[in-house]
This record gives sequence, C-alpha cells and structure tokens, in this order.
Amino acid sequence: MAILDEELRRRAGMISGAIEELLPVVHPRELYSAGRHLVDAGGKRLRPCMLLLAAEAVGGDPKAVVPAAVSIELVHNFTLIHDDIMDNAATRRGRPAVHVKWDEAGAILAGDTLYSKAFEILTAVGGVDPQDMVASVAMLARTCAAICEGQWLDMEFERRERVTEEEYLEMVEKKTAVLYGAAGWIGSRLVGASDEEVEGLERFGRLVGMAFQIQDDVLDLTAPAEILGKPRGGDLAEGKKTLIMIDAISKGVDIPIFAKKNASTEEIEAALAILRASGSIDYARKRAVRLVEEGKGALGVLADSEAKSLLMKLSDYMISRSY
Ligand code: IPE
Ligand code: IPE
Ligand code: MG
Ligand code: MG
Ligand code: MG
Repeated sequence: MAILDEELRRRAGMISGAIEELLPVVHPRELYSAGRHLVDAGGKRLRPCMLLLAAEAVGGDPKAVVPAAVSIELVHNFTLIHDDIMDNAATRRGRPAVHVKWDEAGAILAGDTLYSKAFEILTAVGGVDPQDMVASVAMLARTCAAICEGQWLDMEFERRERVTEEEYLEMVEKKTAVLYGAAGWIGSRLVGASDEEVEGLERFGRLVGMAFQIQDDVLDLTAPAEILGKPRGGDLAEGKKTLIMIDAISKGVDIPIFAKKNASTEEIEAALAILRASGSIDYARKRAVRLVEEGKGALGVLADSEAKSLLMKLSDYMISRSY
C-alpha cells in the first residue's frame, strides 16, 4: 500500500490547499469556523481522491477538477456534522463533534453552509461544456437527496425488529455509496468522458462505496478508539442494523448490550468476541470483498492507465484500512 499512501497523500494535500482558498472563514466567523471544524481535522479525503483519479483515468487533467473534488468533500463533511447529531456521537476525528463544541442549532447551520457552498464551488470548475456542468450539478443534487433517504432508512431500521440483507444494502448504497458513485461520475463527466466511461466509474464508486460502509461497520467494533478518533461500539449502543448484526440476529445470537447505552469497554469486548465466534464479522468482511471484486469489474470499460490501477488499489484499501 506504500505507493497508494504516497499517491493519496499528494492528492489529499491538493484538496486541503484548495479548501483553504475556496472556503475561507468569513463573517460571521463562528459559523464558518464551525463549518471548518471537521474539515480542518483532516479525514482520509478518499472521495475527492476518487474524483481526481476518475478524471485522470479517462485522460483528463485532475488539476482542472479540484473544485469539484472539494465540493464532494464538503458534502461528505456536511453529512458527518448532521450524522453525529442523529447518531448521538460526541466525538469525530479525535475532536468534539460540531454539535458538542457549538450546539445543535449551530451544527445544523454549519452543515447547511457546507452543503450550499458545495454547489457553488462545483460551478467554479472552469472550461467545462455547460451541459456537462448542469448535468454534474443535477447529479450532486440527486446524490444529496439519496443520502437523506439512506440516513432516514438507517434510523428507521434502528426501530425495526428485523432488517434483511437486501434492505441493508439499499440503505448503505444510499447513505454512503452514492457519494463515491458521484465522485466517479462527476470527475469523469467534467473532463468530457464517454457515457460508457462515466457510467462505469459511477458503478465502480457505488459498489466499492457499499464495501467501504461495511468496513466502517466492522471498524466501529474492532478498531481502537485512539485510531478510530471516536469511542468503539457506537453502532451497538444505537442499535444499528449493520450487516454484522443482521447476520447475528438471523443466527439467533444474543448480544446483551445491543441498543443499550453506556456499555463498558469490557462489555463491548465481550460482544465483539461473540460476534467473531458467530462468524458474523467474517460474514460482513466476505460480503465487502465480493462487492470490491464486482466494483473492479465495472472498470473494465476503461483503458489501462496508472490512474486505473490506483483506483483498483484504492478499492482494496477501502476494505483493508484500519481506520
Ligand atoms: C465516515 O467516512 C462516514 C461514512 C460514510 C462511513 P470516512 O471514514 O471516509 O471519514 P473521514 O473523512 O476519513 O473522516
Ligand atoms: C455515515 O454512516 C453515513 C453518512 C454520514 C451519510 P455512519 O454513521 O456509520 O458514519 P460514522 O461511523 O459515524 O462515521
Ligand atoms: Mg450514521
Ligand atoms: Mg455515525
Ligand atoms: Mg460508522
């Protein structure tokens, strides 16, 4: 993964520099500071990297689409600010969540500001066929609506007794994978790729994005808090119907702390041991591997290039990552 690390770092650096320029802290400064709070804490910047690589993989100049990459990262950060309110999560990226450091009203507004700025910044990409720009704006709008649908389902499933694997996959496709799909779609469309390439990259993003969310669910249980940047077991406490829990429930496995707040570290460890023994963690991991394989298949429409091979490596990283 060393080559990928270096390539991701370089592109993440381009994004962070551009954010500084495209999203300055202006009046009222506290609003923009709240908006920049998580953005400045870093994060892996995987979605904007995918957008830049998609442009490159179809022969485009990634530098030309940097504002679009920033736009995707801002949408991501907007969803995180609101997600932490919905999930009662107090910490993210090792920092207090925006609604904790400010308050809920402030976090709602900071999220809305990033959401709006994302559209404005997307249109800052220059030299694009106006039809491709309009189509990209429409794509981003559709994507944001789909994320809201996915987040709605995520919360609705907390209250449901049973959720099927199919329902889970629909939910994660919407809440998480569509943004990766949009990164592939917009990155390639803005540099004038063919419909076949654009669709292939969107499909790739969606499939590996679903795998990414499965890995996120696994890490929520297995990754140390210092590395994860937030306490472990949040999904268990909230009663999230992850693929891990769906498998466990179907096998009649009892997790005493499921949907119970304030579990101790020992109780979370015990739950993890049960879920490992039941094969539920393995089940989720295997499903993620299959989705990545399918995703790679969608890149068959692209000619071979360094960017294409980096996209493949990126998709492997999405399910092998440790945070
Ligand atoms: C977290 O995404 C939110 C999900 C959709 C699971 P990331 O793990 O990409 O978060 P950052 O940007 O690296 O912090
Ligand atoms: C987040 O899913 C999806 C979106 C933000 C749209 P999670 O709720 O699992 O993300 P984390 O684990 O809090 O980052
Ligand atoms: Mg959530
Ligand atoms: Mg969450
Ligand atoms: Mg999660």
